[in-house]
This record gives sequence, structure tokens and C-alpha cells, in this order.
Amino acid sequence: MKVFVIGGAGFIGRRVVRLLAAEGHEVVSLDIATADFSDLGCQVQSQHLDLTSFEDVIAAMATHKPQAVINLSYMRENLPRPAMKVNVLGMDNCFEAARLADVAHVVYSSSIAVNGSQAPYGKRPILETDPPCPAKQYSVHKVFNEWQAKEYREKHGMRITGLRAAHIAGTDKLIGSVDHVQCIVNSALERKSLFDYRDRMRCIVYADDIAEVFVRLALKPKPEHTLYNSGGETLSLGQLAGIVRKFLPEADIAFEHDTGGEAVSGGYLFDNQRLMSEFGIQYPPYEQRVGQMIASLRRGK
Ligand SMILES: NC(=O)c1ccc[n+]([C@@H]2O[C@H](COP(=O)([O-])OP(=O)(O)OC[C@H]3O[C@@H](n4cnc5c(N)ncnc54)[C@H](O)[C@@H]3O)[C@@H](O)[C@H]2O)c1
Repeated sequence: MKVFVIGGAGFIGRRVVRLLAAEGHEVVSLDIATADFSDLGCQVQSQHLDLTSFEDVIAAMATHKPQAVINLSYMRENLPRPAMKVNVLGMDNCFEAARLADVAHVVYSSSIAVNGSQAPYGKRPILETDPPCPAKQYSVHKVFNEWQAKEYREKHGMRITGLRAAHIAGTDKLIGSVDHVQCIVNSALERKSLFDYRDRMRCIVYADDIAEVFVRLALKPKPEHTLYNSGGETLSLGQLAGIVRKFLPEADIAFEHDTGGEAVSGGYLFDNQRLMSEFGIQYPPYEQRVGQMIASLRRGK
């Protein structure tokens, strides 16, 4: 299958590109930034694309005629206009161009950020059907993307599927929620870590595992649902520090406060039964992923 990965140079995108290629698909990675996929030969084409330019997006889709599109381009920028252009206008450019180019399936990344904090839902797993409670520019943009996807589905009969991704972990993660990653990376590199709250909560998925989810979603012609929670492993930073110390007993991880973090954490309990039952996905225990990350960092030391 020919698949577009928009945002293919990003933290998740580059893994999605490689996984699709490993499974034998023809991939076009499109991004405003560059990524080197030359080791994958002609199976992956890299193309410069500014998602905010509708002309560029429609031209790319008309030229390559992908069967599926995965849009992972996004901006966490605080300045309102550049963020709106990529996150809101850019997502719409993707949907509209896919409509005009007759793309069979579009998959886009939403986020657990749409749910804001855990408090409005109580101490129970948040469902895809629970009303969103966005609290930041980023999460409001994600809610709008979900709304726009619904409009395109209902008014144009398109197939568009969203994944509300949780906190993604990988040693190369540089932006977004990085405290849980730093806890691992600093410890493996024998650096100190100081975090605000021991009980700050995270719902974590390893980057390779989320890439797999995006690929499974995109390759399914007719997913049963239009929106999926990725779910993940719920851990406080204190619990994560305990896991890190199983591998690195001397890890220097400290916290300013033992309590108070839960109240300032985003949502951290998520129901991902839709994804698990339909796609048979089971994430390996996160402890195993922590061990892998530490081992890879120690090898590179
Ligand atoms: N990383 C996480 O923890 C996490 C969690 C939940 C949801 N998500 C979502 O997953 C998606 C991918 O996240 P990521 O962590 O890989 O982000 P990332 O910032 O690493 O990748 C985003 C990519 O978008 C590209 N981009 C930005 N502006 C562009 C433009 N105008 N035209 C084309 N490309 C442009 C960037 O160059 C970058 O390669 C995003 O939608 C993000 O909101 C990520």
C-alpha cells in the first residue's frame, strides 16, 4: 500500500515511516524538516512539505495518490498564529486534500490532552465517549481537529480515524512531556534528576509501540470506531524512579514534594479497550521498555 506520513521526520513519524517500510509498504514521508531514510532505499521517498500550504498538500496527494495518510505534523508553539496554522489549518488542509484526492483512509493524532485533568472524570478510566475538557491551546486545537474530522466524515463520507495518544517515551524525545523520559535518560547517563512532585502522574507508551498503533490503524480499511484512546501504563514519577532503580540502584532521582502532583497532572487513567479488543494490541510491560532504553543509552555511553 502507498502511505503518506505527514510529519514523517518527527519523533513518532520517523518510527512510523520505518515500520511501514519494514512491512513492505511504499512510504512518502512529508515534513517541513528533513529526515534521512536513505538506508531504506527507494521504498521511502522524502519530500519537503509545508502543511500550511494547501497548494503544496494537494499537489503532493495528486502526484503520489496515496491510499492512506497518517498526519503527525503538529506544533506545540505557544504563539497563537503559527500553532493555529499547522495544527488547525494544516489538519484541515490534510483532510480537504485527502477528500479531493480520494484517499481511502486518513489517520491523525489527537491526544489525551483533550481530556485536560483527571479530576472531572473521577478516579476511573476515561473513555473516548467522555466529553473533552481541554485546558490549553494545544488541547483545544486537538478538540477542533476531532470536530473537523467528524464534519468530513458526516458531510463528505470520508474515513478518518483519530488516536488520542498518551505520553510517549523514547530516549530521543525532546519536547512535550519529558520528565518521565529524563528520569530514565539522566539516570542511565549518571546525571542527577530533580522533579517537582513524586506523585505527578503519567500514562506512558513507548514510542515504538505507538508507531505500531498508528500503522495498525492506518492499514485497517474500516476501523470499527472513529476515535481510539492509546491508553498506556499509568505510573507516578516516584513509581517510575523505582523501576529505574531496579536497573540502576544508584540512580540519583529526587523530588521537591512527595504529594501535590496528582492535582496538577493531566488525565492519567485511560480505557483503551477499543484498541486492545479490535486490534489485539498488548503493550509489553513498561518496565521492559525502561530496561531497553537504559541498555541502549549505556551502550552509547
Ligand atoms: N510525543 C508525544 O508524547 C505525543 C503525545 C500525544 C500526542 N502526540 C501527537 O503525535 C503527533 C506527533 O508527535 P511527535 O511527538 O512526533 O511531534 P514532533 O514535533 O516530533 O513531530 C511533528 C513533526 O511535524 C513537523 N511539522 C511542523 N510544522 C510543519 C509544517 N508546517 N509542515 C509539515 N510538517 C511540519 C515537524 O517538522 C515535526 O517533524 C502530534 O500530533 C502530537 O501532538 C504526541
